[in-house]
Amino acid sequence: MLRRTRTKLLRLFIAISFCLVSLQTGDAAEAHHAMVASEGAEASQIGLDVIEHGGNAVDAAVAVALALGVTNSASCGIGGGGFMLIYWAKDHKLYALDYRETAPKAASADMYFRNGKPVEELARTGALAVAVPGELAGLDAALRRFGTMPFSSLVAPAVKLAREGFVLSPHMARDIAFSASQIVKDPGFRAQFFDAAGAPLKAGARVRAPGLAALMDGLGDQPVERFYHGATAAQIAAFIKASGGILTTDDLANYRPVWREPIHLRYRGYDLYTMPPPSSGGIVLEMFGMIAPGHTEGLGLNSPAYLAQLIEIMRQGFVDRDRYGDPAFVKVPVAELLSPAHLSEARQQALHHLTVPNIASARDHGTSNFCIVDKAGNVVDVTTTINTIFGAKIMVPEAGLILNDEMDDFAVAPGVPNAFKLVQSQTNAIAPGKRPLSSMSPLIALRGRAPAMVVGASGGPTIITGVLQVGLNILDFGLSPEAAVSAPRIHEQSQPPTVFTEAAMPATTIGALRQMGYPIKVVPELGAVSAIRITPGMLDGAFDPSKGGGAVGN
Ligand code: DON
Repeated sequence: MLRRTRTKLLRLFIAISFCLVSLQTGDAAEAHHAMVASEGAEASQIGLDVIEHGGNAVDAAVAVALALGVTNSASCGIGGGGFMLIYWAKDHKLYALDYRETAPKAASADMYFRNGKPVEELARTGALAVAVPGELAGLDAALRRFGTMPFSSLVAPAVKLAREGFVLSPHMARDIAFSASQIVKDPGFRAQFFDAAGAPLKAGARVRAPGLAALMDGLGDQPVERFYHGATAAQIAAFIKASGGILTTDDLANYRPVWREPIHLRYRGYDLYTMPPPSSGGIVLEMFGMIAPGHTEGLGLNSPAYLAQLIEIMRQGFVDRDRYGDPAFVKVPVAELLSPAHLSEARQQALHHLTVPNIASARDHGTSNFCIVDKAGNVVDVTTTINTIFGAKIMVPEAGLILNDEMDDFAVAPGVPNAFKLVQSQTNAIAPGKRPLSSMSPLIALRGRAPAMVVGASGGPTIITGVLQVGLNILDFGLSPEAAVSAPRIHEQSQPPTVFTEAAMPATTIGALRQMGYPIKVVPELGAVSAIRITPGMLDGAFDPSKGGGAVGN
């Protein structure tokens, strides 16, 4: 914990020094045409290569997502699903693509009850936890609408990484070690991530995923036809059935991504756009909206007074998150929740908390966010996930396909917290074909008609508060993205009544918050955020130091 805190402080210092240096030297003009910020160094470079070879930001996003699914398979992959927010320069419009997983047809509100009691673990580990993957259907839909390159050419770099091997990052190595006792039992995981003696591979080891390479290579230019139908679909469904799950070939064949209307809020001269439900983007907007005009002025970044206001705003946002769910099943009053009347009422409602319950938040990082800007000025912001680390912790044998545990994002039972300690309402109860409510909230800010900032995060509910804080750091405090993602963050989600604070937050600030009566729990880190700031002729991007990866540009 101390090492990571030190790393974060060091990175903050380097970020600030780097900003000064690059301002002084004017830095290379070529670094301002296109940029990819992701949690994987290879994936970022693959995305930039696509753009250099004439592809656009959507082409690059497809290649990056597929590559991350190999190198960062603890976080995301074709066994999961996500959200893609696009700013399309030609028409200055925003587009939102929802390729979130859905509950299988045989799912039901009480499917995780045994002998009248909820068994939460069934929603997190094993075949019953698996929701219908949306990743490939989503990438295909994005490519068909906005792409210029064939799928086969965009999957090729990921196939190469899986076949020839990639170097295990420190973050993935930690994820493997953390989940070792669960995944070592699965022969697929054991072959890929453990040595002959059964010890988890360490950072720097070379990892190959031959089964996944073959599966992806076989997708050709028909990823939907070849994954959701035919032999692969049959193989996935047979494995799930044999393992006690309910997902069928019909579920796979019936999966559809959805183009949705992005939602919007005006904030201090910016137009903020994000994903609508079943994303929690509206909650991020609501939190921005609760910050009254001039609210942050004069308070100072991360001053106790500023943080106290954020805590109250965050908590109220999470209270309102209870009204969110899949819009195909419940009416989510987004416009009402973002109305000036509600924002002003919500601002009044904050109360201080009194006790610190002895509970730990789930370890983050079963999700991945990346941001891309291309030479034409198109912007893509993707958050994609298999939910918790290594998803359901099962792998379809031979196919090397790691399956999500997205069912845990539903309210498994009234009053029962999920892996991220979210206690959710009836609006997010399980139903066949329903999408579970997500915290994933990619956000693009426009100034006038031009994009000014793109930001997104991983980390369960800390996505919402991470996007808010990094957004404020850039838009209100003028920090560079690198300094903005490195600055220590806080998180409050209403339940549990605890304010989580990154260990890198100065002790005096933590002390001041405690004195105000806030129940503080110090944690090593809160999620991982990526961001690019866009100003005319200049792109400035960063990926959170807590997860490795980085931004590359030309
Ligand atoms: O969609 C959601 O809200 C969760 N499945 C996200 C999980 C996550 O971010 C895991 N941690 N990084």
